[in-house]
Amino acid sequence: MKISIIGAGNVGSLTAMRLSQEAVGDVVLIDVVQGVAEGKCLDLEDARAILKHNYCIEGSHDINKIKDSEIVVITAGLARRPGMTREELISKNAQILREVSLNIKELCPQAVVIVVTNPLDLMTYLVLKATGFKPSKVFGMGVSLDAARFANLIAKELNIASCDIETTVIGSHGEGMLPLPRFTFVKGARLNEILDDKKIEFLIERTYKRGLEILTLLGSGSAYFAPSLAAAVLVKAVAFDEKRTFGVCAYLDGEYGLKDICIGVPCLLGKDGAEKIIELDLNREEKDKLDKSADAIQKLILQLPLE
Ligand code: NAI
Ligand code: 2OP
Repeated sequence: MKISIIGAGNVGSLTAMRLSQEAVGDVVLIDVVQGVAEGKCLDLEDARAILKHNYCIEGSHDINKIKDSEIVVITAGLARRPGMTREELISKNAQILREVSLNIKELCPQAVVIVVTNPLDLMTYLVLKATGFKPSKVFGMGVSLDAARFANLIAKELNIASCDIETTVIGSHGEGMLPLPRFTFVKGARLNEILDDKKIEFLIERTYKRGLEILTLLGSGSAYFAPSLAAAVLVKAVAFDEKRTFGVCAYLDGEYGLKDICIGVPCLLGKDGAEKIIELDLNREEKDKLDKSADAIQKLILQLPLE
């Protein structure tokens, strides 16, 4: 299994480290800045002797090294700075991802592509259109990270282990994020049977602002420990054909009543990517919120350089 990661910054290099550490396959790490990926991969390569495995890990500034990858993760681009919304990143990152997509199309036409670069829902749509790949082959990591953040905050509120909490977050990885209390369970009980509405609203608000909270504290750059883990888990689900369900940013063609959009929904992941979209039975209020989230994405799609 050959896995390439494009962008050797915080998220990309940590994703490479996690995949190498878990011996998921051979890893190629690419960065446009010469020396960055090369240096980080020599460091990661040295760790192999401690890990006792022999999978290759190679860094390069030459995109041709991704040739014939089965999975490609895109983390290239700019991260948010304090005061900046994810949407403000659109024009810069769209240029980068368009070029990267054309390279993927030419060099690894069979790959499953996992997009991480923000604004996530727009970049996933752009990569899908620019590669021309089958919709299941391109999806984005965003709401699984938001779901982990929601679970962590609930666990801390209730003083219980986060592994006993199953959260669901749909919508955009951004302003239109939708943590769903009716589809969030604490040891089988619905969240809204355990906590009152005011408390749930507070936890949703904190989840929604978590990325901003972290980047404000960091001062430069955004979160990377949980994001790289969230990305690595999705890579593994594809690499090992796990058939597990995760929230991912997937292309909808009529599901949830939405068409020609990439947005966060639960999906079954396997060797062919986002193999099946799971349609939750949303109530009117939840559906209205999802439609609003989709509307905002659809307006911004018009800003993408699709031709
Ligand atoms: P970073 O700034 O540490 O790394 C980005 C890297 O991309 C840099 O090393 C840069 O040189 C490289 N790069 C730029 N253009 C390139 C090109 N054409 N080819 C190859 N490499 C290129 O940023 P970080 O923290 O790694 O974040 C990366 C992206 O992921 C950002 O857009 C950020 O907003 C996003 N992100 C998304 C999350 C999600 O949940 N979807 C979570 C965390 C970050
Ligand atoms: C986050 O949510 C920046 O999207 C990134 O931390």
